Amino acid sequence: MADRLVEAGIQVTAVGRRKERLDAWVLKHKAERAHGVAFDISKLDAIPQFVKDTESNISIVPAASLPGYSASKAALNAFAMCLRSQLAQTNVKVTEIFPPAVQTELHDYMGANVGRQLGMPLKDFTDKAWDGLLKGEDEVFVGSIGPEDRFLSIAHQRRQTCEEFAQAVLKRSTGKSS
Ligand SMILES: NC(=O)c1ccc[n+]([C@@H]2O[C@H](COP(=O)([O-])OP(=O)(O)OC[C@H]3O[C@@H](n4cnc5c(N)ncnc54)[C@H](OP(=O)(O)O)[C@@H]3O)[C@@H](O)[C@H]2O)c1
Repeated sequence: MADRLVEAGIQVTAVGRRKERLDAWVLKHKAERAHGVAFDISKLDAIPQFVKDTESNISIVPAASLPGYSASKAALNAFAMCLRSQLAQTNVKVTEIFPPAVQTELHDYMGANVGRQLGMPLKDFTDKAWDGLLKGEDEVFVGSIGPEDRFLSIAHQRRQTCEEFAQAVLKRSTGKSS
């Protein structure tokens, strides 16, 4: 996805702990639009300098085998929805991507041979997510948990309810509606 963004002419700052991989990525793109910052996001004292937001379909429907991960993704989604409402009258757009299981290094804890076969091939995911971004969607869902129409209906109704509630709570806390 970072490659796709850079190739589309967008400035991208990639963050990770392994500086050599970031340097190689910046070099690949000749450092015009690609920038790398070596940083460990678990260093909580320094974290407000960075914003990172990749959701998961598990943000909407928790996975029983992953309670901590599910809770963290649900929290991130709640945070993003609140932020989007608070920033509705500004030029800041909050975009969330909701991937299904995708073949990345994320599942290496199962052993790379097994983990990197789990889920959707990375190129298929990137193509689908990119289509959603090009359409200007601020919630890009790829795949679903259970039937797609039911999953998207849950997500959309939740979003609509959140936006209606935001009108009321922001009006009460700021004296203005969003
Ligand atoms: N793959 C899936 O099935 C899937 C599904 C839904 C959502 N997601 C979400 O998508 C996001 C990206 O996951 P991925 O699948 O691309 O995983 P990945 O292949 O394991 O890549 C994770 C990236 O994050 C960096 N990273 C890991 N820990 C870090 C830390 N403490 N500080 C800074 N950087 C760190 C890694 O670089 P370094 O190791 O060099 O730091 C690596 O570049 C995650 O938020 C994940 O929860 C993934």
